[in-house]
Amino acid sequence: METPQVHNFGAGPCILPKSVMEQAASAVINWNQSGLSILEVSHRSPEFESVVLKTQLLVRELLKVPDDYSVLFLQGGASTQFSMIPQSFLKTKGAYLDTGYFAQKAIKEARFYGDVQIVASSRDRDYTYVPDCDNIHYDADYIHTTSNNTIEGTEIFNFPKLGIPHFCDMSSDIFSRPVNVRDFDLIYAGAQKNMGPAGMTMIIVRNALLKTVDKTLPSMSDYRVFRDNNSLYNTPPVFSIYVSMLNLIWLKDKGGVEGVEQLNIRKANTLYAEIDRNTLFYGLANVAHRSRMNVTFKMKDPSLEREFLDFAAERGVVGIKGYRTVGGFRVSLYNALPLNSVNILVAAMRDFEGLKYSSSIISNTEKELNKAELYA
Ligand SMILES: Cc1ncc(COP(=O)(O)O)c(C=O)c1O
Repeated sequence: METPQVHNFGAGPCILPKSVMEQAASAVINWNQSGLSILEVSHRSPEFESVVLKTQLLVRELLKVPDDYSVLFLQGGASTQFSMIPQSFLKTKGAYLDTGYFAQKAIKEARFYGDVQIVASSRDRDYTYVPDCDNIHYDADYIHTTSNNTIEGTEIFNFPKLGIPHFCDMSSDIFSRPVNVRDFDLIYAGAQKNMGPAGMTMIIVRNALLKTVDKTLPSMSDYRVFRDNNSLYNTPPVFSIYVSMLNLIWLKDKGGVEGVEQLNIRKANTLYAEIDRNTLFYGLANVAHRSRMNVTFKMKDPSLEREFLDFAAERGVVGIKGYRTVGGFRVSLYNALPLNSVNILVAAMRDFEGLKYSSSIISNTEKELNKAELYA
């Protein structure tokens, strides 16, 4: 039986390019005609060491990482960074920008290590915007921000310049657009969105920052140990690093982060335009802070949401249910998702609207009133 075509809008682990999956599948059986699976090669073999090196070089090239930064591959997910950062760098106080669920998690972990200053928060409006934090006095060792709020659907487009070390969780928009690495002292990202399969966390860290760590730490919590051992202090997430390498080669072929950014803008604009046009739906995030990676929206009549999920699923649209704390829908538009999948979702939204209006007694005038009320 033929597998139906699926359009995977899941938030993560997320869609990867088919060609990358095919190469990964073949390497699981027989890697580079070696007769060995990528799953059973020694991480200390020269062949695998060259995979680590190539992946690092691709990261450097794609994100234009300056020479005085190190690129590390760790385990423990982005969540481990929530505690590893304060363990190393929080001496007196850490400043945090509270933009949602994952920022909150980072704040919770930092509190184990010292004082936390929440410099600004968008909690008052359910994290639907990115608070301004330009003119705030920072009496802290560092500021921590989250570039893309995966659950709430907001993204930072203008990073504040703060004058203290800036650490950023870029888990859900890394490699989706260019970033000026020099604006940050430490960037981290779980691989499972735009980089590769779950299991690896990438760190880009300014070497001078590591010199400021003035304490002895457990080895697995010490960035210096991973830097000094070129990410091979212990057994690394071999498969995740390997597939990330394949995926970054794919990204380079697509024109790098500059090329894919254009596609990501088109995909996001297409979907947001439909959300704004369609009388049944409304977007959750402040327009200026709408994420290109995770689009959150709801239905004006929430009782229709289940029906729309099923309606869309019949067209192969999966992974669009909103996070449990937010509800509604969350549509993720990571790099590997083609524009065609967005067009299919948009067509489903239009058709669903048509179905509702043709099967109801709502007159055109009422429809207009509805719309006016929605945007009032
Ligand atoms: C922005 C952000 N930070 C942190 C995390 C947690 O990542 P992990 O599951 O790798 O610990 C996620 C996961 O989705 C995320 O989106």
